[in-house]
Amino acid sequence: MEYETVDLDEESGSVVILDQTKLPGKAEIIKLHTATEIWDAIYLLKVRGAPAIGVAAAFGIYVLARQIAEKNPDFNSFYKEFKEQKEYLDSARPTAVNLSWALNRMDEVCSKAHADGKNTAQIVEILGREAREIKAEDIRVCRAIGENGLSLLKPGDGILTHCNAGQLAACKYGTATAPIYLGQERGYHFHVFADETRPLLQGARLTAYELYSSGIDVTLICDNMSAMVMKNGWVNAVFVGCDRVAANGDVANKIGTSVVAAVAKQYGVPFYVCAPTSTIDLNTPTGNEIKIEERPSKEVTEMWYKEPMAPEGIKVFNPAFDVTSHELITAIITEHGIARAPFWESLAEHGSACYNK
Ligand code: MRU
Repeated sequence: MEYETVDLDEESGSVVILDQTKLPGKAEIIKLHTATEIWDAIYLLKVRGAPAIGVAAAFGIYVLARQIAEKNPDFNSFYKEFKEQKEYLDSARPTAVNLSWALNRMDEVCSKAHADGKNTAQIVEILGREAREIKAEDIRVCRAIGENGLSLLKPGDGILTHCNAGQLAACKYGTATAPIYLGQERGYHFHVFADETRPLLQGARLTAYELYSSGIDVTLICDNMSAMVMKNGWVNAVFVGCDRVAANGDVANKIGTSVVAAVAKQYGVPFYVCAPTSTIDLNTPTGNEIKIEERPSKEVTEMWYKEPMAPEGIKVFNPAFDVTSHELITAIITEHGIARAPFWESLAEHGSACYNK
């Protein structure tokens, strides 16, 4: 893919994103300057996927810090507004822990720089460096996940994935797609099945788009076809991403992930979750405590096309994520290696990068 998912334009002081709501038809790059523009871009899924949301928030709070510092050279008034904007951005989406992880990390850097005697202008500069480091780190982490995931695969394997945990959900490689991209570099010739992922079609619009345009053998299937392709023996492993991993190994990911995990168990297909440690939340004991985002009913009744596909006034339930029980998960792949049950122990060893208080 030739576009950056999220970037920073220092000159204009803006967050630059590829607007994912326009894909696959149009690759439109947009610049975000204000807090509302950044919040809307995250909420409306112009930038989405747990790691990409984290990077967008880090760039976002840096861009806002620049604006705040211009009006407030005094640290106390700067920090008061910085905190307000941080809380505002954090409210855009509740499930992916990377959002609060990145914002809390920026906050800690800000407080430390102040404690070290830096002035507001210097603090803003340090925040810029930290935001750029969060992006660079994401690329290194995804590559390491790719190496670890690839060790579980062999040339010619069939892989099924759900939603988009690809380059578009991160900064390069993606998480669940990282082993696929690294395998392609090494001539593994994987056959990938991409679930369309209703209601917002991240699998069809985004995963199919990015894998296909990278020359990977990808077949698009509707969500209700995964059982058939697994029963047919076409899938050697399922790889998915995640939005939050609880301390016991329960995993929140795009709605429908738990169905795929149950079907994989039925057909003896290993089910792997790719998780940067920024997505591991050891402060959340189990999946029951993960807040699941509910989104507008129109996403279901209009699918993606802004045309009614259900009777007007119908009752709708539209959770954006579900929790897959740790019992259905073969392993959780992080940048540090492969965590297996009991996840209480193995995840604690891999460590959480979580800054949640
Ligand atoms: O609602 P979305 O599109 O942000 O949901 C994205 C997912 O569920 C991804 O699988 C998850 O964030 C992992 S991305 C590496």
